[in-house]
Amino acid sequence: IKRIGVLTSGGDAPGMNAAIRAVVRCCAFQNIECVGIYRGYQGLIEDDFEELNARSVRNVISRGGTFLKSARSKEFMTKEGREKAFVNLKNAGIDALVVIGGDGTFTGGLIFENEFDFPVIGIPATIDNDISGTDFTIGYDTALNTVVEAIDKIRDTASSHNRLFLIEVMGRDAGDIALNSGIGAGAEEILIPEENMGVDRLLESLKRSRKSGKTSSIIVVAEGDKSGKNIFELAEIIEENLGDYEIRVSVLGHIQRGGSPSCYDRVLASKLGVGAVDALLRGERKIMVGIHHQQVVSVPLETAIKGEAKFDKNLRRVADITSV
Ligand code: F6P
Repeated sequence: IKRIGVLTSGGDAPGMNAAIRAVVRCCAFQNIECVGIYRGYQGLIEDDFEELNARSVRNVISRGGTFLKSARSKEFMTKEGREKAFVNLKNAGIDALVVIGGDGTFTGGLIFENEFDFPVIGIPATIDNDISGTDFTIGYDTALNTVVEAIDKIRDTASSHNRLFLIEVMGRDAGDIALNSGIGAGAEEILIPEENMGVDRLLESLKRSRKSGKTSSIIVVAEGDKSGKNIFELAEIIEENLGDYEIRVSVLGHIQRGGSPSCYDRVLASKLGVGAVDALLRGERKIMVGIHHQQVVSVPLETAIKGEAKFDKNLRRVADITSV
């Protein structure tokens, strides 16, 4: 392998820049050329490439987002789109691709590798932490800290006014952000996509905490929670059933995706960026590099995409016990 392409795709995550930097610098260290591809798979189709050297990635480690930009490319989902991408890669003399993103990114990468026998390696980066085979994804730790900081602030005002707050956090399919930030910020209840606790149980639990002397409450709701109600409907139901609580809803939104990456995410991104180039040079194919027990591991892309959810049931118990 003499020339590697690198791109970021799907929802951005803090630490993506640190991962690109590590890929670029590992290439420089190994005397391999590195090409940055803008706007993910869309840039691959549109031939939006730029040569990157060790100095091109100066001062990016602390920056959130991705300087290569990101996109969700509909065209790459078509055979014609992928053919254009393949032709562009061949013309640019690129012989392997590092794709930084989540399961959509890996799915596209695996289809591409299978179709054209072109080496693609994945680096997991998404704030949702919803990739199997890696303990953590790049961006998750930063997002958790952003969420906890925001909830702490909301708690101040909630307790001044004796209010109940419903706070929506990201996580379309995974409750890792909700569950961990909920425990970290001392939420009374946490609703996640992996389990439907039922609205009745929620109401019972809120009545119990009211009786036990709580005057304000925080409920963290993952955007993909399975109660079948959206956060505003939940607020109405609670208001109807617990009339004496004043209720407010706060949707944290994309604030969770931005910001300077935490040190943990910078180090994780650096380890995985170097690990990805190492794995390519060892000739590994169809894999993602992940982190397990602090070590970089190779995981089949198939497993990363379709593997079992990492939901830790013990965390639910911890959340229930620590919120009595
Ligand atoms: O990055 C994953 C995620 O944060 C999901 O939790 C969320 O549903 C989604 O991105 C929203 O992304 P966008 O606004 O870019 O479509």
